[in-house]
Amino acid sequence: MKFFIDTANLAQIKEAQDLGVLDGVTTNPSLMAKEGIKGNDAIYKHYVDICNICDGDVSAEVISTDYEGIIKEGEFLASLHPRIVVKVPMIKDGVKAISYFSKKGIKTNCTLVFSVGQALLAAKAGASYVSPFIGRLDDVSTDGLQLIEDIRLIYDNYGYETEILAASVRHPMHIIECAKLGADVATCPLNAITALLNHPLTDIGLAKFLEDHKKVNA
Ligand code: G3P
Repeated sequence: MKFFIDTANLAQIKEAQDLGVLDGVTTNPSLMAKEGIKGNDAIYKHYVDICNICDGDVSAEVISTDYEGIIKEGEFLASLHPRIVVKVPMIKDGVKAISYFSKKGIKTNCTLVFSVGQALLAAKAGASYVSPFIGRLDDVSTDGLQLIEDIRLIYDNYGYETEILAASVRHPMHIIECAKLGADVATCPLNAITALLNHPLTDIGLAKFLEDHKKVNA
């Protein structure tokens, strides 16, 4: 399973990249705003800065919601860097735009996906990635992981090549369950990735190894 980081914070992207486990980055307008990135020029520069840190795919989300606007914006975003993936919302004009981008060879990430029907449409349109938001489904008492399982089944039934990018991942168990269910990618906050490191027996075991080494090598 690929690990993407779900942030626009350059320090966190660098930390994940330096860890050697980073396969890509996803951003969204809320994450850009959180970093205080204001104005189109600053936003575009920030995408390029992210691409210069991470050597995987970087999702950049369109703001337009009409077909022509999404095409214009998406083509511009894709021109910023060869690893930019155009993130398009799961709306009617978005599906139409994904189909256009797919024919043009521009990679897309269909975002704000909350149902298998939406995921099926994204795959039919030729999306490179589909982003089911598992945490936000859990937030409304609906099983987000079940959605991953259902999409996997349907995509495998027909050999759709769209990669399942589990989004709105909140904690390490989400990552582990996504891996068990065969998600292609999980996009996660940095703390969910680093939480995978932790086990008290590792800490106890390491302390004992170092102590024993010290005893005979003092
Ligand atoms: O990038 C989309 C998604 O990962 C957002 O996550 O935590 O805001 O639901 P969250």
